[in-house]
Amino acid sequence: MSKYASWTHGKLPLTELAELKRRGQKLAMVTAYDFPSGRIADEAGVELVLVGDSAGMVVLGNESTVPVTMDELLMLTRAVVRGAKRPLVIADMPFGSFQASDEAAVENAVRFVKEAGADAVKLEGAGPTLSRVQAIVGAGVPVMGHVGLTPQSATMLGGFKAQGRTAEKAERLYEDALALEAAGCFAIVLEAVPAPVAAEITGRLSVPTIGIGAGAETDGQVLVWHDLLGLYDGPSPRFVKQYADLATSILDAVAAYADDVRERRFPEAVHTYAMSDEELAAFRGAVPARPR
Ligand code: KIV
Repeated sequence: MSKYASWTHGKLPLTELAELKRRGQKLAMVTAYDFPSGRIADEAGVELVLVGDSAGMVVLGNESTVPVTMDELLMLTRAVVRGAKRPLVIADMPFGSFQASDEAAVENAVRFVKEAGADAVKLEGAGPTLSRVQAIVGAGVPVMGHVGLTPQSATMLGGFKAQGRTAEKAERLYEDALALEAAGCFAIVLEAVPAPVAAEITGRLSVPTIGIGAGAETDGQVLVWHDLLGLYDGPSPRFVKQYADLATSILDAVAAYADDVRERRFPEAVHTYAMSDEELAAFRGAVPARPR
């Protein structure tokens, strides 16, 4: 049992999320991409862990989330699932894995559950995504929606910009969120949306909203692991709060190690294995003398 978790034991039931919203209890979600980050997220008591397609950037070094593949995310999801036993683990469906047809979307969503052990999947967008959500939910896989700034379609949105900043666009966003709930989403991510718009949407949905750059009134918050811990070198959006500077700590540690190796301070006697004098003498007698 985690001393930080708000529920007592076992996997958080998916159906509990709407109840937590009703009670006004905020939900914490983080991304994770491997076994140790899944385990730490579990121990920290977060309710939701997202294996985001942001892995394509922060883990794999791509310039955007677009190139990351199903196989890459399946492998990362498997590792996270091994570490995160209590939170709900949601796998992000990468660009290209659900756009072609409802059938392709179902097939790939099922792979995340069957081959990687994910509890649910997340899909970006509304419009054509709605029928994908219905098909995936119909196949028995829970779906989290994602509207506002949807990085997979950043080019179509005119770049990485806040969304819903005019009355007309805010209304479209609201309708998209409502349609995603009607299609069967159990929760919806609102990314880079003005806080009052996110608050209005949140108040009109019965499923929880998870905000990132959407103010304090959403039902939960999500941050990318590398942003939260100061592990990502690129520019951070304004909505990021960095809780640690691990890149600096890691850099200092690796540089100190390399220095110790060069200066012969590492390894010390405590880091090495001993051998009896007799065995050592016998060994030395058995091998040719060292060349001078
Ligand atoms: O891929 C990701 O990390 C995400 C979150 C930012 C919501 O989609």
